[in-house]
Amino acid sequence: MSQDEIRVFSGNAHHDLAEKICSYLGITLGEAHVGRFPDGEVNVKVNCDVRGADCFVIQPTCHPANDNLMELLILTDCLKRASAKRITAVMPYFGYARQDRKDEGRVPITGKLVANLIERAGTHRVLTVDLHAAQIQGFFDIPVDHLYAMPVIVNYFQEKGIDELVVASPDIGSSKMAWALCKRLGGRLAMVEKRRVSPESTIVQFVIGEVEGKNVIVADDMIATGGSIAEAARVLKEKGARDLYLCATHPVFAGDAVEKLKKAPVKEIVITDTIPIRGKGDDPRIRVVSVANLLGEAIRRIHSNESVSSLFV
Ligand code: R5P
Repeated sequence: MSQDEIRVFSGNAHHDLAEKICSYLGITLGEAHVGRFPDGEVNVKVNCDVRGADCFVIQPTCHPANDNLMELLILTDCLKRASAKRITAVMPYFGYARQDRKDEGRVPITGKLVANLIERAGTHRVLTVDLHAAQIQGFFDIPVDHLYAMPVIVNYFQEKGIDELVVASPDIGSSKMAWALCKRLGGRLAMVEKRRVSPESTIVQFVIGEVEGKNVIVADDMIATGGSIAEAARVLKEKGARDLYLCATHPVFAGDAVEKLKKAPVKEIVITDTIPIRGKGDDPRIRVVSVANLLGEAIRRIHSNESVSSLFV
């Protein structure tokens, strides 16, 4: 094997995305068995030579988060012990990110714990997309390349050409994403003031900005239970919004999210494939745009020591 060879491996979290990334790179997915022992423990064997290779492990730590995280850690350990030169954890979705601080007494900072585990397993760098909070990069003492799905979402909406546009964020945390979208698509900005009352439900107090008669895109980093975005849609419609579009990078779709979205008064729901779509059902309003080429290009640049941030200028 040449000292410079790229090897891409995948756990079971998102084979389809891993295949698409390999197709962008013009290589085949590295052969590895990632299965289970009879007692349920993760069983890994890499079936090709990785000595001296630049290895990338594609594994979003989405549902089932614990299984997917363990597969990532064990695959990494396996590659390290097989003498890979460099191992990059490609985590299009970084799970446990919402547990990033002690917002009350006697709670863990699980996002930091996960970062420690990933580093300790032997990872040399991390490639991820739309972290819940950009500061999570600082949980790692290794390089983190943080990509934004914004360009692929912008492309989608540019092709649609929506007029009379307002981009709304469903809470303060997502206002940067809404602003970035607004800057590229034009239009005005609005913000929904959301309060979380439990992990499953939120209430909206008021809307900042004029939405009456406007076509509104609501932009968030993720749809988990669907509560935030569905509630935002309901209130925006009440305030007289015309066509409503929802967009989010990570379709976590936990619990009855798909059902909630089905009832939401929206024209389209645009998501990316950082996570395999669960329970999309037959909702024709759900559109999936792919981040595979973006990740593939970032991997190519990391491998050849080219700038990754310049993908976004
Ligand atoms: C909140 O801080 C996030 O940006 C999302 O708005 C939130 O995590 C979505 O969760 P859910 O879909 O459960 O309301």
